Amino acid sequence: MSAQIASIAELRQRLDTPRRNGAHIGLVPTMGALHQGHGRLIERAREACDTVLVSIFVNPLQFDRQDDLDRYPRALADDMALCDSLGADLVFVPSVAEMYPVKPRCTVEVAELGDHLCGRYRPGHFRGVATVVLKLFQIVQPCTAYFGEKDAQQLAIVRRLVADLNVPVAICGVETVREPDGLAMSSRNRRLDADERARAPVLYAALSEARAAIESGVTSATAVQERARKRIPDDDRLRLEYLEAVDAETMQPVEQIHTPVVVAGALWVGQTRLIDNVRCTPPVQP
Ligand code: PAJ
Repeated sequence: MSAQIASIAELRQRLDTPRRNGAHIGLVPTMGALHQGHGRLIERAREACDTVLVSIFVNPLQFDRQDDLDRYPRALADDMALCDSLGADLVFVPSVAEMYPVKPRCTVEVAELGDHLCGRYRPGHFRGVATVVLKLFQIVQPCTAYFGEKDAQQLAIVRRLVADLNVPVAICGVETVREPDGLAMSSRNRRLDADERARAPVLYAALSEARAAIESGVTSATAVQERARKRIPDDDRLRLEYLEAVDAETMQPVEQIHTPVVVAGALWVGQTRLIDNVRCTPPVQP
């Protein structure tokens, strides 16, 4: 059985013995409403680590809109069952008061990497993410932490955070888990009605179009983006927020594609905002 723990003090105490015995401690940070994408991260951790800890915390600091925070799906009983079935040892489920007993005056800003894509449309979001991730690293002191490529900008920011601040945690990126029709699994998919769910795979279709263009030798980012955007039909339930090619490490927009890029997009499907991305490597120039 996975043990559910709410207090930081108890968690640290529970980790004391395995740590003293040299256990490899793996952390999978999540906001709950777990699905098979999260499941893949837990499986990866289970394969490589002696002690696997999943954290479930809907972090208010990273929500730029109160209604999004209020509507964020919560499903603790199912989450515990999934963690249990995948063999997680500990599930850390702190309250907001446990994580933020007072309004934090110390936050983490990873400059530039958050300027584009989601960062441009969700002010303060990545500050909230970087801050809670560093707090979780300090609380758990894991050897390895697992993050999904589904959130490519978040992953790039976390990698930069540990590099710049010498945080002794190895970051493991895990490939995106998709539904059979290509839709990336997401806790937010639960909010889609049947009509919206049927339309949602178009984001991945557009990104796949961009990848095909890049792999066939198109180097102009504008041309790639235009081709991909054409895949999103005119439909009043769909609104493309952005679809952009950025450098795979720095997350800065590129004009010409000669090195690996991430093409990322955010699509509103009704009242639900979905994000996805593909990593693309251009063909070697003759
Ligand atoms: P959350 O959206 O719950 O995602 C937790 C982790 O699961 C992230 O690393 C995310 O990239 C990964 N993930 C989500 N969907 C996935 C999919 N379809 N395939 C593979 N991995 C997937 O991301 C967060 O929470 C938060 O920002 C967090 C890092 C926990 C900080 O609060």
